[in-house]
Amino acid sequence: MINTAAYTHVDQAETESDRCFEINAQAVETLAKVCREMSCPLMQISTDYVFGADCERRTPYAVDDLPGPLSVYGHNKLAAEQAARLYDQHYIVRTCGLYSVSPGNPRRVRNFVDKILILAQEQKPLRVVDDQVCSPTYVPHLSNVLLEILKSGQFGIHHAVSTGETSWFGFYTELFRQAQVPVSMVPRVSGCGTSSVVQCLIVEWLVVANLAGRATRLFAACQPGTPLN
Ligand SMILES: NC(=O)c1ccc[n+]([C@@H]2O[C@H](COP(=O)([O-])OP(=O)(O)OC[C@H]3O[C@@H](n4cnc5c(N)ncnc54)[C@H](OP(=O)(O)O)[C@@H]3O)[C@@H](O)[C@H]2O)c1
Repeated sequence: MINTAAYTHVDQAETESDRCFEINAQAVETLAKVCREMSCPLMQISTDYVFGADCERRTPYAVDDLPGPLSVYGHNKLAAEQAARLYDQHYIVRTCGLYSVSPGNPRRVRNFVDKILILAQEQKPLRVVDDQVCSPTYVPHLSNVLLEILKSGQFGIHHAVSTGETSWFGFYTELFRQAQVPVSMVPRVSGCGTSSVVQCLIVEWLVVANLAGRATRLFAACQPGTPLN
């Protein structure tokens, strides 16, 4: 069983912590119980938000680094990991900055890239965080990695993100360049420890090395209307 469901409104979670806990932590405990009863491995999708408390750190995290979340969302995703770990046949896959495209489906605007492109149409200068570094990860690539992890039978924690790192400002800049959308952007500083959405660090990539050759396709695939393979 692969659990991709989650309460993902990171900012809103600060004021809706009970709901976030129910969906992101308690539900995973239930899933782990059901999986145990069915002898079915459980794959829990997790996040770089389980890190971030060490604001000074500027190197990637390894799977055995001690987590330290800052936000309600991060705390509950960590609780989810702990719930999944109560069942021995668990895979925990931490990933980061997911993006994809949904061509031909204008209703599915929750997609990160689509949302940014819609924001850009408002033609107001965009204030974009420039002091949070992460490794934006292309969802179809992550899907392949999830299958590889499942096939490997290696239970435990895995980190799976695309290679490279950038700030959100850098990511948006490249996206608008690829999409040929002229947008005025202003870099913004979030400040570690003050925001609910602080991601100070990138997550170390361990599993996606075999996909590195395809990294150049990442941004090309962002272009609106580009069909996915
Ligand atoms: N997006 C990222 O950058 C990122 C980074 C790292 C990790 N992750 C993790 O990756 C996973 C997927 O994230 P995402 O960004 O794809 O999230 P998403 O687009 O918000 O999708 C979350 C899914 O969970 C479902 N869901 C929410 N509450 C539910 C409930 N009470 N019962 C059943 N289903 C429920 C939603 O269903 P509806 O569509 O019906 O609302 C939605 O399909 C999550 O575990 C997230 O923590 C995401």
